[in-house]
Amino acid sequence: MTTSPDMAAFVAGLPKAELHVHLQGAASVPTILELSRRYPEAGLPLEEDELREFYRFRDFDHFLSVYMAVNELVRTPDDVQALVEGLGRDLAAVNVRYAEVTVTADSHLLAGMDPAGVAEALSAGRAATLARTGVELAYTYDINGAHGLAGAERTISWAERFPAEGSVGFGLGGPEAGAPRTAYADAFNRARDIGLASVPHAGETTGPQSIRDSLDALGAVRIGHGIAAAQDRSLMAELIERDVVLEVCPTSNVCTRAVDSLEEHPFTILREAGVRVTLNTDDPGMFDTDLNREYVIAHDVFGVDRTGLLDLARESVRSSLAAQPVKDRILAEIDDYAAASLSE
Ligand code: ADE
Ligand code: ZN
Repeated sequence: MTTSPDMAAFVAGLPKAELHVHLQGAASVPTILELSRRYPEAGLPLEEDELREFYRFRDFDHFLSVYMAVNELVRTPDDVQALVEGLGRDLAAVNVRYAEVTVTADSHLLAGMDPAGVAEALSAGRAATLARTGVELAYTYDINGAHGLAGAERTISWAERFPAEGSVGFGLGGPEAGAPRTAYADAFNRARDIGLASVPHAGETTGPQSIRDSLDALGAVRIGHGIAAAQDRSLMAELIERDVVLEVCPTSNVCTRAVDSLEEHPFTILREAGVRVTLNTDDPGMFDTDLNREYVIAHDVFGVDRTGLLDLARESVRSSLAAQPVKDRILAEIDDYAAASLSE
């Protein structure tokens, strides 16, 4: 991929929102190396080239096993806070103004962390990020489908009892096969009762049915990935009708082998059908990407022009769970940027 310097600069300056990024998966290579050297008994790579090799995934299950192994390096609320602050710095560097960070709180609880301490670490990391960078962070808590209903219960009870500042969403990640979305309806109902919007992963590695189940049983307002919708015209029509947004993560889908290549990614099918789509990174530290790169891919591979990239940035803000004044502020910044850059 050869990107023009002009396009790279345009994307780098574009104010935008990130709606799908996992806290652990976002940790940079240097951050993970620092943790693996601090906790050598975990047996994870201690050198950069080994870690990059460790991050080459054979298939989706292999990706999940690596992801779970990396989770074991996050052991204390201070580790959690450091990850949040590191992510905040990385987001600021790519002109992300607002981000919804997915936190698998259950992993932290299973690691023996104090439940209140986890929420305090999230609140403190968010406050420090806002003060230092101006980036507004919000949180989504995802159930890990590998932990079944017991994990769902731990996740929702924790969110009910220890609401961190900036809690906005409730999700479902991990394996999709063998983790039917319908099984988690109770947890998502409880999440809605405490003001958390439904944003499950679906249609990433299984077919359209998991998206339909997410709409019908979980009341999804956005879908994590959702790329399988491209296989089903009536489902795309339903997403449009219900005004549901997809959090598309192109590089992730190639790295986890959910799709064979960027060229075969269904982004364009979804967008041209009129489905609302946003661009996201998922696990940028593991996939060696950032949000600027995803926008550049949209231009270079999917043929989205500057006006289209501006619209994608606006869509990321509009479909976020941010408070209206936050949305209005970032949308105004995008309008100013458009006026300045398109008149050049
Ligand atoms: N957790 C982190 N990344 C994920 C992905 N791409 N799908 C499901 N769960 C995840
Ligand atoms: Zn994800």
